[in-house]
Amino acid sequence: MNRLITFRNKILALLALIALTADVSSAASKKIIVGFSQIGAESGWRTANTESIKSEAARRGVELKFADAQQKQENQIKALRSFVAQGVDVIAFSPIVETGWEPVLREIKKAKIPVVLSDRSVAVTDDSLYVTFIGSDFVEEGRRAANWLAKTSGGKAMIAELVGTPASAPAIDRKKGFEEVLAKYPGMKIVKSQSGDFTRAKGKEVMESFLKSPDAKQITTLFAHNDDMALGAIQAMEEAGVRPGKDILIVSIDGVRGAFEAMAAGKLNCTVECNPLIGPQLFDSVEAIVAHKPLPKRTVVQEGVFEQSQAAAELPKRKY
Ligand code: AHR
Repeated sequence: MNRLITFRNKILALLALIALTADVSSAASKKIIVGFSQIGAESGWRTANTESIKSEAARRGVELKFADAQQKQENQIKALRSFVAQGVDVIAFSPIVETGWEPVLREIKKAKIPVVLSDRSVAVTDDSLYVTFIGSDFVEEGRRAANWLAKTSGGKAMIAELVGTPASAPAIDRKKGFEEVLAKYPGMKIVKSQSGDFTRAKGKEVMESFLKSPDAKQITTLFAHNDDMALGAIQAMEEAGVRPGKDILIVSIDGVRGAFEAMAAGKLNCTVECNPLIGPQLFDSVEAIVAHKPLPKRTVVQEGVFEQSQAAAELPKRKY
């Protein structure tokens, strides 16, 4: 009888082990599902960012639920709620503006879904509402643009500024970094400033109005918060008979291929890089979260500054 009981216990233990192994291996092979809310397609930078995220998800076999918010925060909030309803493993998003996220992030936390911030951050009082933030240091980008300008202009510049989307992290931070450096140079002043919403069309429209203003002649420099707005402004200058890159110095941010082409043609003077190809880092974080591995709260993307003299050599190497 005792022998029979021991034998039965051994069989039960074996079955339990088989069940556990099957469970562990099915968890390991389970497809990761990520919900990603993208801002829209306002710029060449954004297009490259979307492509990097989609191609990296496909390469790793991650199921990506991608939602384009068409530049509206309300669409992003709706998308985030639908990811919760669908029970995705991780939610990632690039917030169009900094504020107004706390309620939806609390809902996501309640549903126990980890959040990764991609490209732009949020202003929240409780940073446990997201796991990690991967993106550029926008303040530093603004500083780099101003430092380049101070060096090139000898500290003398009357600046027209094309600001990014109002209340967005890159618009706030780039302005902050730029003005921080300007404070050291009394000969450098922002004389005009208006939002071009990070788009080429709006950049052109705003530059046209700057050039039509009675005091347009004082403008020696354009600082555009992104390349697309600078490219639109270049068109406006050419149509107004102003030589971009010569009559007006231009510094912008992103480092998209179009900016390098404009630099090679002598129409843009400097672009401060902002790297959109963060798909690999994003999914490294997603995989770490799923594997319960620790992550830094912040990962800063490494970037450079490129001038006209480097454009021709750099152009063939540009990936976006
Ligand atoms: O958040 C990154 C910024 O958003 C890029 O500089 C700009 O081109 C984009 O629209």
